Amino acid sequence: MNNFEYYNPVTVVFGENEVNKIGSIAKEYGKKVMLVSYTDISFYGDLFERIHDLLTKEGLEYIDFLEVTANPTLQQARKGIEICKSEEIDLIVGIGGGSAMDCAKVIAAGVKYNNGDIVNMIAFSHSDSSQVPPTEALPTIMIPTLPATGSEMNPTAVITDEVTIKKSYVWAPCCLYPKVAIIDPKLTVSLPSYQTACGAIDTIAHILESYFNGGDGNLDLQDRMQEGVIRTVIDNITTVINNPGNVETRGVMQWAASIALNGWLLSGTYGWAPMHQMGHVLSAKYNATHGATLATMILAWMRYFANRSDNIRYEQFANRMFGKSISEATDEFESLMKSIGIQTRISEFGVVKEDIDSLVDNVVSVSFDSSGKLASVPPITKEDVRKIYEISL
Ligand SMILES: [Fe+2]
Repeated sequence: MNNFEYYNPVTVVFGENEVNKIGSIAKEYGKKVMLVSYTDISFYGDLFERIHDLLTKEGLEYIDFLEVTANPTLQQARKGIEICKSEEIDLIVGIGGGSAMDCAKVIAAGVKYNNGDIVNMIAFSHSDSSQVPPTEALPTIMIPTLPATGSEMNPTAVITDEVTIKKSYVWAPCCLYPKVAIIDPKLTVSLPSYQTACGAIDTIAHILESYFNGGDGNLDLQDRMQEGVIRTVIDNITTVINNPGNVETRGVMQWAASIALNGWLLSGTYGWAPMHQMGHVLSAKYNATHGATLATMILAWMRYFANRSDNIRYEQFANRMFGKSISEATDEFESLMKSIGIQTRISEFGVVKEDIDSLVDNVVSVSFDSSGKLASVPPITKEDVRKIYEISL
């Protein structure tokens, strides 16, 4: 395995009804709180009223910032930053899925950012050194309501520049780790099945990025841990979709999502995310759901590598997970994805053959590194990117 440093300072408070601790936890970090969530919170029932009451009981003031959409934009974050500054907010609480939590992180860092517009903190090009990551941020608490991104336990935020329509990320271990993640599986029981399914595929994709790109040497420990989490998600996904009110199973899915991307499973591997890079282009251009874009990319990557000689990681995955060849395993994986209602082809997002050139160009401009390739094992060329998109049509 590769040399690595492991650091994760996030306090996790896990379990049914643990959200009721938000007031006592929040008061450790300030007196005035901004709650960051979606434009439409009707889905959450009385959750916000409960959180307001819990904060008030502890003597905290709060402001709701309900301006986040799926695939949040820098413009949304800028508005949140202005309000934070004028209202002298001490603490930001992100409530929702990755979009809400990531926008909350960008706002938290943006309040303290001294290098011009927040566009400068985002890594919009992997070969451009002009990015200036944040060095400090307001403290954040995350209350995830969608098991998927693992954002509640990592220092990464993904956001879209509404001007260039490019979606990319900021990674800043200095200051983007939330202080606390309150993971309450009861908050996920009303999640629609499509979001549940997309979240599960996102969890699997976070692990598979590392599994396929494992790296060198003895990876037995990482492989087996990763296989265990993927196996668990595959085994539980149908149950959770058929029994959405089962808090136990919801909890398993939620914790799986958190540990998939909290650094634990990926330690000692490269940690590259080439399938995500290609998926982000689809989300930005077609507003496709993140997990669904990853479903299409996982399948296309498996099909692309099925016919190559350097596919040992893919063969191992197909054999251990499905007991089959790569091609047969991919077909079975696609059937599972279809059975839970997820798109498996990029044409289902509206992509047509003529769009592929611009998709490829977008991946090249955002994600190719200084060697002119997409970081992966093996490194992915422009022609590889084109073929993978074509396979996925
Ligand atoms: Fe993801």
